Amino acid sequence: MTDSKTDLLEPLDILYLEDDANDAELVRVEILQEGIACNLNRVSDRVSFLRCLDRGGIDLILADYAVPGFGGSAALELVRERDQEIPFIFVSGSMGEEMAVETLKSGATDYVLKERLTRLVPAMRRALQESRIRRERETAERALRASEQRLELALRGADLGLWDWDLPRQIAVVNRRWAEMLEYSLDEIEPRIDFWKCLLHPEDSSRVLLALDAHLKGETEAFETEYRLRTRSGGWKWVLNRGRVVLRDDAGQPLRATGTHLDITGRKQAEETNLQLEAQLRQAQKMEALGTLAGGIAHDFNNILGAIIGYTELVRLELPEAGQANRDLGEVLKAANRAKLLVEQILTFSRQQAHDLRPIKLPDVVQEAMQLLRSTLPSTIDVRMEIENGTPTILGDATQVHQIIMNLAANSAHALPDNGGLIEVSVRPAEVDEEMARGHADLQPGIYAVLSVRDTGHGIEAAIQQRIFDPFFTTKAPGLGTGLGLAVVHGIVRKHRGMIRVNSDPGQGTDIQIYFPATDRPAPESPAGPGRLAAGNGKRVLFVDDEVALAKVGCLMLTRMGFEVEMQTGSLDAWEAFAAAPDRFDLVITDQTMPKLTGLELAGRMLQLRPGLPIILVTGYHASASRERVHQAGIAEMVMKPYTIDSLGKVIHQVMQDGRSRSAAS
Ligand SMILES: Nc1ncnc2c1ncn2[C@@H]1O[C@H](COP(=O)(O)OP(=O)(O)OP(=O)(O)O)[C@@H](O)[C@H]1O
Ligand SMILES: [Mg+2]
Repeated sequence: MTDSKTDLLEPLDILYLEDDANDAELVRVEILQEGIACNLNRVSDRVSFLRCLDRGGIDLILADYAVPGFGGSAALELVRERDQEIPFIFVSGSMGEEMAVETLKSGATDYVLKERLTRLVPAMRRALQESRIRRERETAERALRASEQRLELALRGADLGLWDWDLPRQIAVVNRRWAEMLEYSLDEIEPRIDFWKCLLHPEDSSRVLLALDAHLKGETEAFETEYRLRTRSGGWKWVLNRGRVVLRDDAGQPLRATGTHLDITGRKQAEETNLQLEAQLRQAQKMEALGTLAGGIAHDFNNILGAIIGYTELVRLELPEAGQANRDLGEVLKAANRAKLLVEQILTFSRQQAHDLRPIKLPDVVQEAMQLLRSTLPSTIDVRMEIENGTPTILGDATQVHQIIMNLAANSAHALPDNGGLIEVSVRPAEVDEEMARGHADLQPGIYAVLSVRDTGHGIEAAIQQRIFDPFFTTKAPGLGTGLGLAVVHGIVRKHRGMIRVNSDPGQGTDIQIYFPATDRPAPESPAGPGRLAAGNGKRVLFVDDEVALAKVGCLMLTRMGFEVEMQTGSLDAWEAFAAAPDRFDLVITDQTMPKLTGLELAGRMLQLRPGLPIILVTGYHASASRERVHQAGIAEMVMKPYTIDSLGKVIHQVMQDGRSRSAAS
């Protein structure tokens, strides 16, 4: 029905149920008299009534109550089945009050007695007016429902939770998504603003409340912040909250604020992972640079120490064993050996030292280290070992893994109070999944063997946890720590393609875990037995080193062992001497790093002339001379500088024995 019709500007279409033509005429006149244009369509039976009704376009229905064969009540029922709104007015001769009330209850709009027809038009006007208002309200409600639905769909599409805060009453209402984001159902959310405040992460709370306060005071345009909220199960979700005050009173006090929540946990986690990866990269680069620097210095130190240790040993052999001078030199040796250990640490850290990775069983290495630990650590410390079945074999350098354990255990021991505590070294298998691997630049998913050294010491403050792997970072007093222990561990672990995790609670203790990737290659059963010192028995050795001091020490050592030694300090000279009479020598010991011809090259030439000749290669640090390469080149063994008479002797013994068993076998 259009407004022009309800305003009676256009002719009304009226369906009129009336069997009495005279009455009908009276009604028509009454309407016309009031100046209302209309098409009055009179019917007197059910069939024609229904036909008109179903044709539609009717603005108003008038009906006599008592029509033979088809009463007004039946007509009303038919109409209301089809349309709740169309005005239906009874125009009736005699109608008791009771019946009138009854008709209104069953849906009639009004009733007018035929004796008082003057009431008819006002009743029509009112009915039309009311019906129009009802229709308008209905349309508005429909539109509102549609718009709410659109909003809900948009929120759902954008995955937004919604909140609406009534400030004076401190009531905050949220939508389902808001609740579900935090694992709640909607009815579990208490409609108080405090409920939200209590969910704020303690680290974010004051920042968020300050920002909110600033916005409420009108200092900021909007309230837009990222923070964590506690979920129902106690976890944390990152949300982006965007909102603003939408209503203020005349004094500017906020009355109502609304806004949305977006779950940004995924993005935050990715950001965090990226930050971690960047930090790891920076750390790796820093270590690399420091390693190169330290490695270079350590190399020179190594040669100097070689001379100090070598000559001291030799002088001691000349002196009476019981004398004071001998004892003093013993102290010199001790100090020099400490320096040597330090240089070894630096070289290991700088990754320059030749090493090789072969299949080893972590439990074997741990067991060996435990013996040393138990005998060196004070008895107040409870040293325990825990080895889990199924720990996989790893590709490693047993000596270096041993060093990791010693360095970590030393730190643990230092962290324990004087009255003791616990150090536990354990080994277990572990699987690294995709998610864990994503957080560590050096980590691939797969099976790992995890070595852990745990203590009940004073722990590491969060602020310095980042720095403990830095070379020369130490919290110990001068002379008590150089700060190289963990840098070395870090270097070794990198070489083993492993990963280090630090768990430390200040006051509670520290657990450092090292992940070594598993290998499929089987580990050999038992390690070789201890070597014995060689006895020269007049055999001839060619000794080559371009550093005269070291060459002299080496030769003196060999002479002590009973060898006949020929010394050469230039690799080309050495080659000429050898080539002149290749069969003259039973053994060649040569330095690797020499100008013109390296030890490896020299050895190569010699072996061409005399295949099977035992050659020992002496190396300081040289990444190119891995044990594997050396063996491939046919060289019997490799010795690290600085060596002692003892360590050199053992290697010579082993090489000569191997040589014998080789020639016996052939
Ligand atoms: N288990 C631990 N408990 C408490 N603090 C530790 C532990 N391990 C390492 N730290 C801290 O990390 C620092 C660095 O350790 P790192 O082993 O590199 O050097 P250091 O022990 O100080 O010296 P160095 O090992 O060269 O003798 C230590 O000074 C100490 O503050
Ligand atoms: Mg240490």
